Amino acid sequence: MADKTVALITGAGHGIGKASAKLMAARGWTVGINDLKPEFVEETVAEIEAMGGKAIPVVQNVATRDGVREAVDKVMQEAGQLDVLVNNAAWVRYQAIPDIAPETVERMVQIGFTSIIWGIQAAAEVMDPARGGAIVNVASAAAFRSAPRSLVYSGIKAGVTGLTRAASAELGASKIRVNAVAPSAIPTEGTQKHRNAELDAKRIAATPLGRLGTVDDIARAVTYLCAPESDFITGQVLLVDGGIFSANL
Ligand SMILES: NC(=O)c1ccc[n+]([C@@H]2O[C@H](COP(=O)([O-])OP(=O)(O)OC[C@H]3O[C@@H](n4cnc5c(N)ncnc54)[C@H](O)[C@@H]3O)[C@@H](O)[C@H]2O)c1
Repeated sequence: MADKTVALITGAGHGIGKASAKLMAARGWTVGINDLKPEFVEETVAEIEAMGGKAIPVVQNVATRDGVREAVDKVMQEAGQLDVLVNNAAWVRYQAIPDIAPETVERMVQIGFTSIIWGIQAAAEVMDPARGGAIVNVASAAAFRSAPRSLVYSGIKAGVTGLTRAASAELGASKIRVNAVAPSAIPTEGTQKHRNAELDAKRIAATPLGRLGTVDDIARAVTYLCAPESDFITGQVLLVDGGIFSANL
């Protein structure tokens, strides 16, 4: 896999997915911009085109196996190949244990976990072993260290780290690398409602590098793990957290 790389990023209409799409497009890759919301897809595609990059709009709900396969098919139809898949989309609710509702669990698991299984399956079918391929799953620091009201979220993200290792073991023979990135708390549209100045200050104080991460910090890690620079790395979960996990300040 070298030039003419073609990528698909789920949930790329906002946040980490969008930043990753823009960074990959800046490298000259063609990027399939998936999101549920057509207006988010349009906006991201327009921003990439304004930079002189190439983007394929992929408006699709990836919560189901059929939805994921349609997203992959769209990229294959438009670009004729798929080299990179970033499983980034998630739908997240934080609930105390007594309040956890079956519908919430089902939706979180479908979008944040099951859809990654279908994404890996669909991508592995179309990735060309002669070129190799790379899959990056967006996990979370919450897979390792958690907080109250995170039972479902942490469980899903821990599961994502496990399936990343399992997929890497099986797909290495097809020259497909599978890694995960585990971000700490990153200000995005999706996390806005869960943040406040006091919590941010606490997080910054507990972070050796002394700041919150940004979507670009995560996009660089995602892009690195998809790029030829990391071509002997597979089965890894890269924490991108400013050192918070390792520190006891
Ligand atoms: N932001 C953080 O603090 C943080 C920390 C750790 C991990 N993460 C993970 O990073 C990923 C991205 O998070 P973010 O904060 O950038 O999210 P975000 O909410 O800002 O963006 C997610 C995008 O995914 C889209 N989406 C949701 N469901 C979809 C579906 N079924 N099909 C297609 N698109 C769908 C949304 O419309 C949205 O545009 C998630 O997996 C999240 O769990 C985020």
